[in-house]
Amino acid sequence: MDIKRIGVVGAGQMGNGITHVLALAGYDVLLNDINAEALDAALVRIEKNIERQVSKGAVSADEKKAALSRISTTVELTELGPTDLVIEAATEREDIKHQIFATLLPHLAEHTILTSNTSSISITRLAAATDRPERFMGFHFMNPVPLMQLVELIRGIATDQPTYDACLGVVERLNKTAASAEDFPAFIVNRILMPMINEAVYTLYEGVGSVSSIDQSLKLGANHPMGPLELADFIGLDTCLAIMNVLHDGLADTKYRPCPLLTKYVEAGWLGRKVKRGFYDYRGDVPVPTR
Ligand SMILES: NC(=O)c1ccc[n+]([C@@H]2O[C@H](COP(=O)([O-])OP(=O)(O)OC[C@H]3O[C@@H](n4cnc5c(N)ncnc54)[C@H](O)[C@@H]3O)[C@@H](O)[C@H]2O)c1
Repeated sequence: MDIKRIGVVGAGQMGNGITHVLALAGYDVLLNDINAEALDAALVRIEKNIERQVSKGAVSADEKKAALSRISTTVELTELGPTDLVIEAATEREDIKHQIFATLLPHLAEHTILTSNTSSISITRLAAATDRPERFMGFHFMNPVPLMQLVELIRGIATDQPTYDACLGVVERLNKTAASAEDFPAFIVNRILMPMINEAVYTLYEGVGSVSSIDQSLKLGANHPMGPLELADFIGLDTCLAIMNVLHDGLADTKYRPCPLLTKYVEAGWLGRKVKRGFYDYRGDVPVPTR
């Protein structure tokens, strides 16, 4: 199947990165968000990020201009109906995702493939609530999308081969690498990564180390490019908590219980970098640990 026009739902950190790479690869992208300000902010961010690639010589000024001209935005979700592929990248909440697909369904072209960038929610369950479980799958980009090489492709139980092949074709055109994951809670990357982040929060909660000592230990002691708490702030603490809840509920094992301190940060609205405060405070020139 020839994919030309792609709809992206959600213009947050993932939606803007996904739009950026799709437009540079030559796809026409229609980006949607319920929040008009998020759409404006995404366009500013995309322009700035592509400009950074231009200044490094990775992208030409003409390619930048062409990419930006391929992006349009809308607050009307139903306008995504005629696209060939929809990538849903809205907030990590199953009720929100169901609502988005339910609103889209009556307006979708027959051939449109539906995908979700969810980090953890069951693809089979999301698919089952649509009219096209065979043309539905998980399309999981990593953050930051322009820099990260991997895309996890997750088949629901009913996903057919042409749908998988069409999504694989998009990944290849982006010059990224696909990993196939089965549809179990949090798939591969987050099944392994998120319990590590949650354990780092427990280590902080129990007073074994401070924010700085925990991050420094994993950077210098395990050769991780970022410490786990720094990474949690980067991902978004609400997203981390949502993924831990999916692991806990879906695998029914107490080893996945979210750390109460992670819950507390989310309750405080300290969601990480996107709101300038999480395990670090980003409001000044240098990030300052909050514990
Ligand atoms: N943050 C990460 O590192 C990461 C990595 C891979 C995948 N993901 C997944 O990507 C998705 C988005 O995460 P994010 O980090 O970009 O979140 P974010 O909070 O930065 O952005 C979410 C966006 O969705 C919008 N939104 C909410 N409800 C909507 C609706 N009904 N219709 C349209 N837009 C709506 C919000 O206004 C917001 O702009 C989640 O499913 C998350 O699990 C996140």
